[in-house]
Amino acid sequence: MIPAERIAMSSVPRFTTRTDGSLDDAMVSAYRRDGFLILESFASDIDCEALRQRMAELVEEFDASRHRSVFSTKSRPQERDRYFLDSGEAIRFFFEEDAFDATGNLIVEKKLALNKVGHALHDLDPVFDRVSRLPRFARLAASLGLRKPLLLQSMYIFKQPFIGGEVDWHQDAAFLFTQPSTTLGFWLAIDDATQENGCMFALAGAHHGPLRRRFLREGESTRMETLNAAPWPDDHSVPLEAPRGSLIVLHGLLPHYSGANRSPRPRHAYTMHLIDGAAAYPADNWLQRHSLPLRGFE
Ligand code: FE2
Repeated sequence: MIPAERIAMSSVPRFTTRTDGSLDDAMVSAYRRDGFLILESFASDIDCEALRQRMAELVEEFDASRHRSVFSTKSRPQERDRYFLDSGEAIRFFFEEDAFDATGNLIVEKKLALNKVGHALHDLDPVFDRVSRLPRFARLAASLGLRKPLLLQSMYIFKQPFIGGEVDWHQDAAFLFTQPSTTLGFWLAIDDATQENGCMFALAGAHHGPLRRRFLREGESTRMETLNAAPWPDDHSVPLEAPRGSLIVLHGLLPHYSGANRSPRPRHAYTMHLIDGAAAYPADNWLQRHSLPLRGFE
């Protein structure tokens, strides 16, 4: 018997990536209607493995003990804020909660304790730079209407086996805001993403609604501002299951979340967020680049 969620899942439209990465009319209209697009076979197994392997090396090289003050539960909040706020132009490591004891020592193996790494992998690491700037990404961005695409941030997300936490409903434009709204997410599945290992869910079509919140930099700290207090929907969401190598395009205003991973399988993903350089980028966005100019696909 086919489980109920499998039947619902089959209604989520999926497309096979065209050779050059551009979108045909059916893909563009699905994206405009739903606010997301699942493009299967966007990245090759070789490129997915190159990212996984390079990330494993970066994790191996990262000495968490040198950053004990940041990760200790006794740390001053300012140190954590600074580590995060500077990460827009760096490669920084963010761990699952409870991965450290009170003095900042890891209590689980480093490679299984990470939540994500970000946010300038695409500019600072040669392997991530190469894959992030494959010509098909540039053609995809052009098909989606970005006139002057800029690669704003990148993240490698681990969603670890058994302990990978859920990510609550949000719109990516809350964190990366432009006027007008041009924020666009590219989410590349390094592993098969399923409901069992914590795939994303989205509220199809809700990108036509308003931005609900904004995450603001305020001096050396941050705060969340509510713009629209309507409750987040908890039904009518669709699972964005994606085989490895698939790219999920996410409109910046599309509400989405991802479940916890309680399965024995990892759910690695590589994400990039783009904006249009023609739009205004406010100085109170958390991510500011002072020493590393934003680049497009060139
Ligand atoms: Fe998101």
